[in-house]
Amino acid sequence: MVICYANQKGGVGKTTTAVNLAVCLTRSGDRVLAVDCDPQATMTRQLGIDPRDVGISLVDVLAGRTAASTALIGDVASGVDVIAAARELSGVEMALVAELGRERFLADALAPLTDRYPMIVLDTPPNLGLLTVNALVSADIILAPVSCEDEASVQGVVELRGTLAKLCRLRDSEPDLLTSLTRWARSRVMSHSQSRRPTDVSHLRTSGSPTG
Ligand SMILES: Nc1ncnc2c1ncn2[C@@H]1O[C@H](COP(=O)(O)OP(=O)(O)O)[C@@H](O)[C@H]1O
Ligand SMILES: [Mg+2]
Repeated sequence: MVICYANQKGGVGKTTTAVNLAVCLTRSGDRVLAVDCDPQATMTRQLGIDPRDVGISLVDVLAGRTAASTALIGDVASGVDVIAAARELSGVEMALVAELGRERFLADALAPLTDRYPMIVLDTPPNLGLLTVNALVSADIILAPVSCEDEASVQGVVELRGTLAKLCRLRDSEPDLLTSLTRWARSRVMSHSQSRRPTDVSHLRTSGSPTG
């Protein structure tokens, strides 16, 4: 099962919830692979890896220089195996634009690992560029965190849905899109609501039940 965290709005909790889910899944006994698709490499750092120390990363996988299995980093403190990000992912994303089948590079690279890892968790950058598109095409479930403090994160889900509809032709089956509420600490929502009501996201409840 491949779970992808996506929302083109930044700061909504994609990385935080992706990292927490990955670590929680290892504690329940699953082998988990985290794949950091964000050039900012926050997930990589939060899982205890300094991107500057990484020799082979997702950059090499998407550039076609190496198999995903070669980029695996195991035995990290969190217990989660990782394919790390690096700043150079931005350059690879630009290079992908000129390639045929550019939306499926990640899905094809991860396919040989799906037997080994029952759970693969993808983190994505705050945009709907080719790195995010590759992650969306790879995913069985897409989780879109929605920040209670930020109405733009709702718009991000609307745009994500539009992108998914366009990507349907590249996939065998339609992924589930779930939303989860984040940043709903009462103190912060209350202070924000002095000028406006907290964001109403009830209309975004698609399949399944929201977490958070
Ligand atoms: N559920 C949550 N409740 C409160 N704060 C959160 C929650 N999830 C994330 N945050 C905080 O929000 C900020 C942005 O989170 P992050 O996961 O980096 O967002 P994104 O990956 O979408 O840019 C961080 O400071 C993080 O600690
Ligand atoms: Mg992030």
